[in-house]
Amino acid sequence: MASLKGRNILSLKKYNQDEIYQLLAKAMELKRQQKNRQPHRHLEGKTVAMIFSKPSSRTRISFEVAAAHLGIHPIFLKPDEIQLGTREPIKDIGRVLSGYADAVVIRTFKHSDVEELAEHAKVPVINALTDDYHPMQSLADLMTILELKDRLAGLKIAYIGDGNNVAHSLLVVAGKLGINMAVGCPKGYEPDMSVVHFAHSSIRNINQKITITNDPIKTAKDADVIYTDVWASMGQEGEREERLKIFRPYQVNRDLMDAAKPTAIFMHCLPAHRGEEVTDEVIESKQSVVFQQSENRLHTAKAALVSLIR
Ligand code: CP
Ligand code: NVA
Repeated sequence: MASLKGRNILSLKKYNQDEIYQLLAKAMELKRQQKNRQPHRHLEGKTVAMIFSKPSSRTRISFEVAAAHLGIHPIFLKPDEIQLGTREPIKDIGRVLSGYADAVVIRTFKHSDVEELAEHAKVPVINALTDDYHPMQSLADLMTILELKDRLAGLKIAYIGDGNNVAHSLLVVAGKLGINMAVGCPKGYEPDMSVVHFAHSSIRNINQKITITNDPIKTAKDADVIYTDVWASMGQEGEREERLKIFRPYQVNRDLMDAAKPTAIFMHCLPAHRGEEVTDEVIESKQSVVFQQSENRLHTAKAALVSLIR
């Protein structure tokens, strides 16, 4: 098995199928150890710097708890403290933090800022969400699907809603892992074409399909997984009212779930806005796995830290 030590997780575009499965296997092993109350302080004495320029619950908490269980000391840096790119250049922050910390976790707006930080840092950089990608979310999503469906290749994920960072990260891994992915978005809110092309270019077999349409019911048809996310992401608050109207036909409700397989699961990265992208009925239904998915953020965060640092 190839070592992932020293690698970054920026978008997962540079990870191959085996390396993604390696991260998922590590997450499952660490989950078992935690459930069996086996200590797993694999990174005793290490330090991780965590820069957050946007709000977060799951990502921040999962990384801090992961750090605690692994014996790492996390340093949480709020936007007004580090002032990414304004108080000093990003390339300097990358080099300074490399002198103190064993890894950097960063959530910010521009993906290019994370790439720049990674280029200059001498320690692994983990993207905790940018405007373009949310790779740590897709690792937890894959882990959850694997736990519940026992496989990934050949399944159909239907993503309904905004072609945003979460959709992009799912597209990146879907192509590589033989997953059929259908995205249904309003016109003008489709995923970035470069990401769709990337997914197409990494398709594993001729039967595998990556489709983008503006038809939510067609997207959901025969899906194994129905996935949605908020209609206005962090940073798009000013567009919220307009988006609420445009996205209304893309709500995940009972009718939409009924278009999927009867065994389909409902997923959402959370936070969710009930009555907007998903009804209370669907998110509270037996098909909903959103809290298993959010718990898996912890195990995948641990897997990333252990694999990249140790
Ligand atoms: N899903 C997710 O990343 O949640 P937070 O924004 O709360 O971290
Ligand atoms: N697309 C959402 C995801 C939040 C976890 C956002 O960027 O705000």
